[in-house]
Amino acid sequence: MKQIDLSVSINKIKLSSCIMNASGVLCSTDKELSNLLDSFSGAVVTKSCTRKPRKGNFEPRYFEWNMGSINSMGLPNLGIDFYLNFLEKKETKKPIFLSISGLSAEENYFLIKKANHYSKITALELNLSCPNLIEEEDLISYNFSRISYLLENIFKFNKKPLGIKLPPYFEDLSIQKMALILNQFPIDFVTCINSLPNGMVVDTKTESVVIQPKKGFGGIGGSIIKPFALANIRKFYTYLRKDISIIGCGGISTGKDIFEHILCGASAVQIGTQLMKEGVFVFERLEKEFSFFLRKKNYSSIDSFKGNLKNFQ
Ligand code: DHB
Repeated sequence: MKQIDLSVSINKIKLSSCIMNASGVLCSTDKELSNLLDSFSGAVVTKSCTRKPRKGNFEPRYFEWNMGSINSMGLPNLGIDFYLNFLEKKETKKPIFLSISGLSAEENYFLIKKANHYSKITALELNLSCPNLIEEEDLISYNFSRISYLLENIFKFNKKPLGIKLPPYFEDLSIQKMALILNQFPIDFVTCINSLPNGMVVDTKTESVVIQPKKGFGGIGGSIIKPFALANIRKFYTYLRKDISIIGCGGISTGKDIFEHILCGASAVQIGTQLMKEGVFVFERLEKEFSFFLRKKNYSSIDSFKGNLKNFQ
């Protein structure tokens, strides 16, 4: 049987498989990260870190149902030093993406400068789209002038491959504006999309919301957000410079979902809610399903169909 090649490049970063975890899911502790390193995933993304460890919001702060998940974690993480020290000790061939989510511009500069000194970090995923902070009223990723200023400062000193985790945008013009900004900087990739902010899930039995923080409002993930992920990927694929890769994220639970993300223009994909539901075994299952799907379609590599979505016919 013809071998299916699932390897890809995110700009110059080579991945043996195009499937990796989404930041935030099972990637916070020593044990979780060790499990990811030992799994079938093509790369490991760490939980978004801050300068100091954080406990995050009160529990319950995560809930899932058949179509998706809602979370308001509040950035619980062990602090950047933990992640840098952990990775420094590990021997691995997998690319490591350190996710960074400083609570201010200055904190982001500090975190990026620090990570620049560590050779085990393959790339940085700058998270500009955490929707769950009690401290922050507005999302920086919806504020184009703030993003532009932030990136200008970051690229005065940053030497590491760097990508940006974006929220979903709901207007074509927002994506055009964002792409225009991103195209001015030596960015390696964008990750589309983070959870849909400001969702709510109601339990009719208790007549209450299902998570405690922020009166029940939280970020929505899982299969219900796939159409928004696909649309954002497609639009960014058309507006971004061709050397900026897209990592698709949002609503992947089958091999067919991966095909859809890549057909829209993603070079690789991340798994969030489904990883939470299934654990690290999800990667091997998805690789099998995706390979099977490609074999049926007679494709033997990612590049043979990436971005080739057709108009209605
Ligand atoms: C959290 C949620 C996010 O969607 C994100 O991008 C970063 C952090 C959180 O609540 O911990």
